[in-house]
Amino acid sequence: MKWIGKEALERKEEISTADVLEALDFASEQVSAGLRDFTRVFPMAYSENGFYRGMENVDWTTGFWTGEIWLSYEHTQSPGLREAGEMQIDSFLDRIRKERDVETHDLGFLYTLSCVAGYKLTGNENGRKGALLAADKLITRFHEKGNFIQAWGRLGAPGHYRLIIDCLLNLPLLYWASLETGNESYAEVARKHTKTTLDHVVRPDHSTWHTFFFDPDTGKADHGATCQGYRDGSAWARGQAWGIYGTAIGYRYTEEESYISVFKEVTDYFLRHLPSDLVPFWDLEFGDGDLQPKDSSSASIAACGMLEMAKYLGEKERDYYIGMAKKILKSLADGYRVKAPGESNGLVLHSTYCNSSPFNTCRHRGVDECNLWGDYFYMEALTRLAKNWNPYW
Ligand code: GLY
Ligand code: GLY
Repeated sequence: MKWIGKEALERKEEISTADVLEALDFASEQVSAGLRDFTRVFPMAYSENGFYRGMENVDWTTGFWTGEIWLSYEHTQSPGLREAGEMQIDSFLDRIRKERDVETHDLGFLYTLSCVAGYKLTGNENGRKGALLAADKLITRFHEKGNFIQAWGRLGAPGHYRLIIDCLLNLPLLYWASLETGNESYAEVARKHTKTTLDHVVRPDHSTWHTFFFDPDTGKADHGATCQGYRDGSAWARGQAWGIYGTAIGYRYTEEESYISVFKEVTDYFLRHLPSDLVPFWDLEFGDGDLQPKDSSSASIAACGMLEMAKYLGEKERDYYIGMAKKILKSLADGYRVKAPGESNGLVLHSTYCNSSPFNTCRHRGVDECNLWGDYFYMEALTRLAKNWNPYW
């Protein structure tokens, strides 16, 4: 059997409240211990042989580390964690002021989990400033021709005239900026980008394109393509997971009923393509018996998306998605998480950043390792199960 199948999936065990709390305790201790190396310096996107090395505040991933610090602070109320989070807010403010490595749509990931989170939790004014500057920068990537935010590369360049499904998670920064300033233009960009994305990336079988190109002259939708998935027509596991969480966020901010249906479709596709331990291979094309790496981060992202959407559904559906998230978390906590500090300085093993294949275009790195977003979303999912969490998103 390649994928688990609906009946076996329903029979899987859910994580208990005691296990959620124990896992959060361990994760917070691991993050606190990490501050020795990573307060002024940030961890790299992915570990090497289980251990993260340090780097400057560059790349699209440093905000996940600050987000882990804020989640740990919420769990423990430790003043040292708050202090570290606030120091990192200053680093993010400096980064956007000096425009260091900010020519990317990933400003949402970066600034929501560092600056918006810190501002929401502590009222830190530099957090508010940094996040608003980042929102201003992010909307410069919006193209009226095509109605989307360009993901990567020089703005308007034909080879880069595309959106990627991941970007749905960058939009909460814009919704937040509108709520904070009363200026609707940020949210309008977010709403338009969501609609364009969901109109084009979801295929008839409810799998998703990773990226989608538009014609720079006319704005007309052109074609889908993968960057990090196995091949163009397959479903990159993390792309599908970004789609799950992205539609939940889309609904949270727009209350557009059709996004509930899209959420159910993309989530159902994801769940139907899980292997027997409920943690996907890096591409949903692969299942039990394939000699391929896993991407545990996709499991955590999908669980967070289900827990977010559950808030807006009727009782029966709510219980179903919360149950699915708890089953996934049970498998992550039993078989994937780091259990002792000597194993790794991260939180969750067996994740995949970019696995190159003959049919994709990504640079091979971070395969079967920890990565920062895998660690972050695992902690977020636990936090969502531990209490009534007020999202940073
Ligand atoms: N957003 C990039 C990735 O998911 O790897
Ligand atoms: N973020 C996709 C790649 O570089 O390879």
